[in-house]
Order: sequence, then C-alpha cells, then structure tokens
Amino acid sequence: MQPENIALKTPYLPVKGTIRSIQPMAADNYLFDITESTGSLASCKPGQFVELWVPGVGECPISVCSGRVGESIQLMVRRAGRVTSALFQLEEGDWVGLRGPYGQGFPMHEFKGRNLCMVAGGLGVAPIRSVWQYALDHREDFGKLILIYGMRHTTDILFRQELKFLLRRRDIDIFIGAEEVMGPELPPIAAQLGRVTDMLRLADISPDYCVAVCGPPVMYKYVIAGLKQKGVPDEQIWLSLERHMKCGIGKCGHCFIGGKFNCKAGPVFALPEIKHAPEAIECANGEY
Ligand SMILES: Cc1cc2nc3c(=O)[nH]c(=O)nc-3n(C[C@H](O)[C@H](O)[C@H](O)COP(=O)(O)OP(=O)(O)OC[C@H]3O[C@@H](n4cnc5c(N)ncnc54)[C@H](O)[C@@H]3O)c2cc1C
Ligand code: FES
Repeated sequence: MQPENIALKTPYLPVKGTIRSIQPMAADNYLFDITESTGSLASCKPGQFVELWVPGVGECPISVCSGRVGESIQLMVRRAGRVTSALFQLEEGDWVGLRGPYGQGFPMHEFKGRNLCMVAGGLGVAPIRSVWQYALDHREDFGKLILIYGMRHTTDILFRQELKFLLRRRDIDIFIGAEEVMGPELPPIAAQLGRVTDMLRLADISPDYCVAVCGPPVMYKYVIAGLKQKGVPDEQIWLSLERHMKCGIGKCGHCFIGGKFNCKAGPVFALPEIKHAPEAIECANGEY
C-alpha cells in the first residue's frame, strides 16, 4: 500500500476547518463558528462531539452546539488548559483540525411526538442548545418544550441574545436560574435566584416527559431525584456524561466507564444504562 493510501485510512486524520467567526459569550467562553468544506460533519446529531485539533498543540473533545450543521459547525469553548488556551490565541481566518462527529447523541427520533424537557447546567448548555435548535427547527414533531438552564452567576449566561429571543416565543417554556445575581442591575434576561433543581420544581413536568440533561456531574443526582419526584421514569431520562477522552473512537481506553467506552457508547446514555455504574453518577439517596 502506498503511504498516501495508508494516511487516507487512518481514523485519526482530521479535516481542515477555517474559523469564520469568534464571539465572546462570557469571560473565557467563546463561540467559534468553523467552516468545513468536505461535508464530513453534516451528519452531526444533537449531543455528538468532535475532536478539535489545534496544530502544534493537540486535540480535545468539544460538543457540537448547533442543531443545524451544514457548511459550518459551532463550538462553545471554555478556556481550560493547553488546547483550549491555544485555540483562544487563534483569529478569524485561521485553521484548525476536526475529527468526527463521534459518539451517540440524544435520541431525537425517540423524543419525536413527545413532550421534551431540556436541562442544562453551566457549560452543559452547549450540547443542550443543539437539542433546542433541532426541536424548534422541527417544532411540529414535538409536544410541549421546556428549557431549564442554571448557572453559578448571571454573568456566566451563554447564548444571552438567543435566549432573549426564545423567551418571546410561546411554544417553549424557559426557566433560567443563577445561584448569584451579580452586578447592581438585573441582566436583560430575567433570572431566578436559585439552582437548576429549584427551576425543576417550578416547571410543570408530568411523568410523560422525556428529559435531556447535561451539566456538571454533581448536578445529576439532584436532577434525577427532582425528576423522580415528578414521576418521570428512568428510561425517559437521558444524560450526557463528560469523561476524559483522548482518541474519541474506542481505541485508547481513557474514557472507560461502567464497562463501556464513553466516546463510543456515549456521551449520551439513558439512565437505566448507567445507573448501576457508581462512577457514572454520584449516588442520590443511595439509589444511584
Ligand atoms: C464529550 C465531551 C464534550 C465536551 N464538550 C465541551 C464543550 O462543548 N466545550 C468545552 O469547553 N469543553 C468541552 N469538553 C471538555 C474539554 O474537552 C476539556 O475541558 C478538555 O480537557 C480541554 O482541553 P485542554 O487541553 O484545553 O485542557 P487540559 O490541558 O486537558 O486541562 C483540563 C483541566 O485540567 C486542568 N489542568 C491542566 N493542566 C494542569 C496542571 N498542570 N495542573 C493542574 N491542573 C491542570 C485545567 O485547569 C483544566 O481544568 C467536553 C468533553 C467531553 C468528553
Ligand atoms: S477516548 Fe479513547 S477509548 Fe474513548
């Protein structure tokens, strides 16, 4: 086999993406719009992720946060370590590498025809945004829609402009809560003082709802407990788990959790698939 053919077969080969725009959303949280001309990411589903490569630095997994993927994808990135800090040094017109889309996203086909509640904590709003964009683009396929989004400080709100627009719609109920309202004035988005679980209590969620959840691991046990109080059965609760990943394709073993490779079987799991893996979700009242 010629060397160039070997290169074409490697699953690690990224496609080239060009940064079309960079929008600061909050301190250290930027939205990157990246164009990619091969069309290899067009099949991306809400909840899937890509491996983002910054040349000369390395790769990290990032959720695709746009519900529509055509010529470009959107990634909401928080500056954390080596790769993301290097990305923040890049400018519009610079290029990066992309591999994917990878993993199992949220089962939008199963949500079809059902009432859907989306629960996001902090940066977990990134994959949840792809769910609400998809659901609103196919509005007639879904029943009632509820979005619950919690964060630590009101200054951390991501997608502020988009949420302001959504708050005007009558076909989705939105609850936004912060543990701390910062600054002398309330932000343009009305924020409740409280946690995601407080918003859950306020929301009119009946046992027939499907629920898509993404947030920090500590949030899950409380959200699950809140949903159980509302009578939502385990099999209607879907959680996106962020675990350390490297290859993204089931080869390196970095993401092994509950007997599964999170990068291939996840990151989205139905609760019954992971509730008996103690490392997947912290135990709420000893049950999970
Ligand atoms: C499926 C999936 C989806 C994801 N989606 C997103 C997303 O949409 N947006 C997003 O921003 N992130 C997302 N992440 C998380 C992201 O992949 C990680 O934050 C990733 O580690 C960032 O890579 P990095 O090289 O910038 O950070 P790393 O260098 O890997 O650093 C990660 C963490 O380790 C700490 N750290 C690094 N070096 C040191 C050190 N020497 N000593 C102590 N601590 C250190 C950093 O402070 C940071 O908190 C996702 C992860 C997964 C698995
Ligand atoms: S990230 Fe390598 S096996 Fe999952």
